[in-house]
Amino acid sequence: MRTRRSLIDLDDLSADEIEAIFEETRAFEAHAPGRLLDGVDAVNLFFEQSTRTFTSFNLAQMRLGANVVNLSPKDLSLATKGETVEDTMLTLSAMGIGVIVIRHPEAGFPARMAAAFDGHVINAGDGSHAHPTQALLDLFTLRDEFGSLEGRTIAIVGDVAHSRVAHSTVLGLARLGARTLLVGPECFLSTEDAIADATIVRDLDSALEQSDAVILLRIQRERFAKMPIDDREYVERYQLNGRRLARLHPQAIVMHPGPYNRGMELDDTVLEFAGWRYARQVHHGVYIRMAVLDLLVNGTRARVR
Ligand code: NCD
Repeated sequence: MRTRRSLIDLDDLSADEIEAIFEETRAFEAHAPGRLLDGVDAVNLFFEQSTRTFTSFNLAQMRLGANVVNLSPKDLSLATKGETVEDTMLTLSAMGIGVIVIRHPEAGFPARMAAAFDGHVINAGDGSHAHPTQALLDLFTLRDEFGSLEGRTIAIVGDVAHSRVAHSTVLGLARLGARTLLVGPECFLSTEDAIADATIVRDLDSALEQSDAVILLRIQRERFAKMPIDDREYVERYQLNGRRLARLHPQAIVMHPGPYNRGMELDDTVLEFAGWRYARQVHHGVYIRMAVLDLLVNGTRARVR
């Protein structure tokens, strides 16, 4: 029985809770909060490679004083000895583990875990489905830049269909009142991939002219067998480069969840662009995860100073 709160996608959080997470993120950035997770045992379980999200969750847990166990899939009986997810969850519950952070290639895997685990499950990315903490740190970075997102236009560019980041971020943008443009070729963004409240734009140049911020996506090659569009054609139509940067408003910013592929969705001029916010996103990610962990484990007590 699921008795504790988990974060599987952004719609597990109310609007007030998202605001509380943002306020706390800001407070934590200004002052280290101390050992809010003292005595809490956390397990990180990453079935896919990760540099940013894995390190960021580890730092967030350690900075809050949690005990951290990093399990790699090869250490799990689940992978090699035929143990079910449900029985693995029962085992970790019995040891008193309070938090599991899970990344898995299968959409829905974290939700299955949450249903069987007597603790908090945080989805750190499941297949093409969702990546709520990445969405929160993206939204926080946008708010940090613009204040309110009401009336702002945000373009999400690239492999929208396979991007869990895009799916979660779009949910959040709608809730914060932004106008969302989804930009990409038919093969990565069909009209069926259209997400409520977002507008499909095929022409990147015209999207750039309308946008206050651009979120670039990596092509998720690990999620399909054959690249459905020629690399050269993709670059020609959808790469952000020096020529295209000139179409943006002077105050516009460019973001990317990472890892970015130079020569595909962007070229090196983007990395020199004054509005390139990648490092800010990564920086915010640690504090966002601290705030999420605190909210799930300790609840919404009045803790924002
Ligand atoms: C993303 C992911 O793994 O979903 N990266 C991240 O967590 N920062 C995006 C990607 O892999 O392209």
